[in-house]
Amino acid sequence: MSAAAGFDALQSHAARLSGTTISSLVNGDAARAGDFALRHGALYFNFARQYYDRDALAALLELARTRDLAGAYQRLFDGEQVNVTEGRAALHTALRGNHSGAAIARQAYATASEVRVRMGTLVAELEASGITDIVSVGIGGSDLGPRLVADALRAPSGVRFRVHFLSNVDGASAQRTLAPLDPARTAAILISKTFGTQETLLNGGILRDWLGGSERLYAVSANPERAAAAFDIAAERVLPMWDWVGGRYSLWSAVGLPIALAIGFERFEQLLAGASDFDAHVLNAPLRENIAVRHALTAIWNRNALGHAAHGVMSYDQRLALLPAYLQQLVMESLGKSVRLDGSPVEVDTVPVWWGGAGTDVQHSFFQALHQGTGIVPLDFVGTVRNDDPYAENHLALMSNLFAQAEALANGQASDDPHRAYAGGRPSTLILLDALTPQSLGALIALYEHSVYAQSVLWGINAFDQFGVELGKQLANGLLPALRGEVEASDPVTRVLLAELKARG
Ligand code: F6P
Repeated sequence: MSAAAGFDALQSHAARLSGTTISSLVNGDAARAGDFALRHGALYFNFARQYYDRDALAALLELARTRDLAGAYQRLFDGEQVNVTEGRAALHTALRGNHSGAAIARQAYATASEVRVRMGTLVAELEASGITDIVSVGIGGSDLGPRLVADALRAPSGVRFRVHFLSNVDGASAQRTLAPLDPARTAAILISKTFGTQETLLNGGILRDWLGGSERLYAVSANPERAAAAFDIAAERVLPMWDWVGGRYSLWSAVGLPIALAIGFERFEQLLAGASDFDAHVLNAPLRENIAVRHALTAIWNRNALGHAAHGVMSYDQRLALLPAYLQQLVMESLGKSVRLDGSPVEVDTVPVWWGGAGTDVQHSFFQALHQGTGIVPLDFVGTVRNDDPYAENHLALMSNLFAQAEALANGQASDDPHRAYAGGRPSTLILLDALTPQSLGALIALYEHSVYAQSVLWGINAFDQFGVELGKQLANGLLPALRGEVEASDPVTRVLLAELKARG
């Protein structure tokens, strides 16, 4: 089968639909608004404002069938080496549930469960101590997931620990993080799958010095010996992770220690339970009703049939303000590939640019471009039905804005004045959580993980490696001696820049 087989059928459907509009699709099919909705547990999805019809959707589902998406999910859950370029499984599902009969997956589940018990003990010990502040040091997958969940689910007041996140190598970040803290009442967790990441090693060193030693340092790593040795951390304060968990899929492991400290261990377990429940849906639901499959097929449609080069995710819940940043890594590091598993070029476009922000603020910044710019950016709108703050009128206003934006983008508005006309035809998916709870957030994140995997299968690429980030790291390491003035840089532009630094520094 050619790499692009099945995608040409999508393009014919897009051509067939080119004379229609999203609003005519919605208004011309009385059942569509309800029929294009899917629910699982506390999560509701409405795809009615996507620019496809029932026939195009059937073609998308046919693509999922011919690419054996159901089999691909089974292989993921069974711990097969879906990360072929690194010869590894990607068993993040085993961190939160026991869904497979395969020995390797069952073993992974058992191992992860044992470590979770150790994690619970560490949380209890810290809760019983005089520690008030936790600094979580890590970057990328060792930062963004814990940062998102801790921020989304933390109580507005009365928290046991204040949890701070330090990721950037910029010393200003360490300075600002530590300035208000008291080293006598602070503990630090160094999180790094490899324990070879420049940022985390440098910031870890700053923390060790600032704390006056390693006594209140904890570590999480797939290389626990290296972690213990590099920072002289006692073995009982080092928690393992494994090479069968990708960094950006790891918040469910001991990498989630800052989450458990920020929201309590019980609620951390509820987060895992919510994700595991969604895993069962993804593994068992038929393709047509499978929410992760539908979400992925919608992404493929927007990218490959309609050619949209960007995708936005807008959280209409301030507690989910970090969701776009988290998804940027999950989606773009996973799907930012141009070659297939066998090394041959992908014959269709892969990942669009993912970006976003929190509504309603975004409406007053970049939404102008979404309404009237020349490019179309399909969106995921994420909102929460029940708010947990005491400001009911604000919640009504928030929801009215959410629904209004989706409506305005899709339907537009004609005007004799071209400056005041809205073309419409801008697709979006409406995602509603009944309430923001550990379970519903776990399910939402699992949805995105599974959508990403499905997209990778449809494109024939590896969602679990990230060789693209290595070159920059190598060059940065190689340039350190040049910055210290010990050697000359080889690149002529970099040489001029270094001279500029020297002259002005
Ligand atoms: O930026 C590349 C990357 O390798 C990410 O994939 C990873 O999440 C991050 O660096 C941090 O890596 P580590 O957990 O090994 O410090």
